[in-house]
Amino acid sequence: MKNAQAKKFKRHTITSALPYANGPIHIGHLAGVYVPADIYARYLRLKGEDVLFIGGSDEHGVPITIKARQQGVSPQEIVDKYHTIIKDSFEKFGISFDVYSRTSSPIHHKTASGFFEKLYNNNEFIERTSEQYFDEATQHFLADRYITGTCPHCGYEKAYGDQCENCGTSLSPNDLIDPKSVLSGNKPVKKKTKHWYLPLDKYEPWLKEWILEGHKDDWKTNVYGQCKSWLDTGLHPRAVTRDLDWGVKVPVKGADGKVLYVWFDAPIGYISASREWSGKTGKDWEPYWKDESSRLIHFIGKDNIVFHCIIFPSMLKQEGSYILPDNVPAFEFMNLENDKISTSRNWAIWLHEYLEDFPGKEDVLRYVLTANAPETKDNDFTWKDFQTRNNSELLNIFGNFVNRTLILTQKYFDGKVPAANEFTEDDKAALEEIKSFPERIGSSLDNFRFREALTEMMALARLGNKYLTDAEPWKIFKTDVDRVQTILNVSLQICANLAILCEPFLPFTAKKLSDMLNLSGLTWKDGGNTSLLETGKQLNKAEYLFEKIEDAIIEAQVQKLLDTKKENAENEIKVKPAKENIGFDDFAKLDIRTGTIIEAEKVPKTKKLLKLKVDTGIDQRTVVSGIAEFYQAEKIIGQKVSILVNLAPKKLRGIDSNGMILMAEDKNGKLCFVSPTEDFNDGSEVR
Ligand code: 2FM
Ligand code: ZN
Repeated sequence: MKNAQAKKFKRHTITSALPYANGPIHIGHLAGVYVPADIYARYLRLKGEDVLFIGGSDEHGVPITIKARQQGVSPQEIVDKYHTIIKDSFEKFGISFDVYSRTSSPIHHKTASGFFEKLYNNNEFIERTSEQYFDEATQHFLADRYITGTCPHCGYEKAYGDQCENCGTSLSPNDLIDPKSVLSGNKPVKKKTKHWYLPLDKYEPWLKEWILEGHKDDWKTNVYGQCKSWLDTGLHPRAVTRDLDWGVKVPVKGADGKVLYVWFDAPIGYISASREWSGKTGKDWEPYWKDESSRLIHFIGKDNIVFHCIIFPSMLKQEGSYILPDNVPAFEFMNLENDKISTSRNWAIWLHEYLEDFPGKEDVLRYVLTANAPETKDNDFTWKDFQTRNNSELLNIFGNFVNRTLILTQKYFDGKVPAANEFTEDDKAALEEIKSFPERIGSSLDNFRFREALTEMMALARLGNKYLTDAEPWKIFKTDVDRVQTILNVSLQICANLAILCEPFLPFTAKKLSDMLNLSGLTWKDGGNTSLLETGKQLNKAEYLFEKIEDAIIEAQVQKLLDTKKENAENEIKVKPAKENIGFDDFAKLDIRTGTIIEAEKVPKTKKLLKLKVDTGIDQRTVVSGIAEFYQAEKIIGQKVSILVNLAPKKLRGIDSNGMILMAEDKNGKLCFVSPTEDFNDGSEVR
């Protein structure tokens, strides 16, 4: 990838994917989008660049309405709840949005609606009436996730109408084999409906030129590759409206009961958020979106590539007044302990839980997620690695260096910066190297290489730690104070550089360190300067930047995950394999009839047995049945059953049992009657 900063921009519009407000967020979100976006925004701000960093909640779409339905509440209640939780997690992790908005806000509805209208008035859309799946029982069209069925590509039986989560293929409801309504479970019928389509096929030549030729060298390989594959396969018109009642209403006549497709309105949410920011700050939002000297960058996860590289740019281009994204640094996915993060399986580290379990350790998670960032391939988070990176890197190197420097300065010089006297060759080498760090870290960040940038930042901490350890000032204080002054002066200058250069990665640590060093207002340009702390300056009390994370803490987290695994395994439906085939003659020997329980009582001194009198149509007979844990005797009088009437009689607890009531047994051993579903006369044969 080419150095992305080659061209000088006047301002930077940085967007981060708007998370769906249908659940809390986890480490995968942080690692794949928000931490890198925040590092980048903080870095540019420190360099004095004009930055607008945008975030917000994506509050439309079918997953939200499905959740609301499941919980018997309104979609608004769902998004209000999760918007608050998500926003709070972002704030606590120091994600420094200039604005965190939401797509259910009036300003967004107005912006998205206006955007659609402009394209509509320019005749950009194709209007098409087609037959779409419809649930007759609930009277709903079944868009996107309202319909499931078998994926035509991989055979996965729970694929959604918009995507197969097993093989990742994007689908349309018509692709599904054996489709079913999520609402009623019924097989849907087809019904005519009108929708508006964005003619992506028409934009294909332009997209090919803009992406395949224009961004071959500066977009990440994974991003460019996915775009190329879409463009090589050929684009088709894409519906941008839906028959739903939750979303931005389609602002044209004859569109009652229709809303904008969530992927049409969500990216416009970045623009709405900018307008909201403008209203709050009094600053003009338009240059950030419309001036050619502004640089638009979308931080997203790899599942959002097509929307941000093909669909949204097509919308912006057709609208006509907007700039296009200059780069879309999409990340791959973060796994957890060798398994895909999954909300439905609760296989995740939820940010609001981490914040409770590890108060004050927000930077530790930011650090670990950056060190293992899934930049070019999926990566894995493990608790063991989290502990090692904290204890062996942050604590042993960064924290240890800073702490020793400050404690010694306190002890030997009452916390005042000592003078630098004569420099040795080692001092000079260290001072020279310090100068190179802003450029080393910066050029990695300019190219969206966050892991490399973090390694460089830590190289400065390593340099300091090694310098101090090698110089051993504690051994010579009694004999050579001058030398100790110089060593601590150099060490303190390294600390000051760390306070600046670690800020994008570890903002809370940077703040603590700056406070200890009594520094404020420094910028990236001050990085590399080796006289940031003037002689005689009074420093503040030393505090620990990091603390050891003990085995027991990690073991508790690992145990939590093991418990989740166990729970998931227990919840998995265990269906026993089929028994060996039998001939019809074998089956025909069983005489099963429908019957009615007419009397029932508990067999004394047993936990499981009920003594039943059953009218079999043939006779009234006594049967002992092991169902007492699941049914109370007095509640099953009148219950219709299926009964095997020619089972040889057997004495159970002294009672003659004549036959057997048929019961189904679920994975947990729970029993339930296998009964006729209608009022069937007793004695009917079950065949
Ligand atoms: O994948 C997601 O979580 C989407 N909610 C991202 C939307 S990004 C943008 F378009 F708003
Ligand atoms: Zn599939």
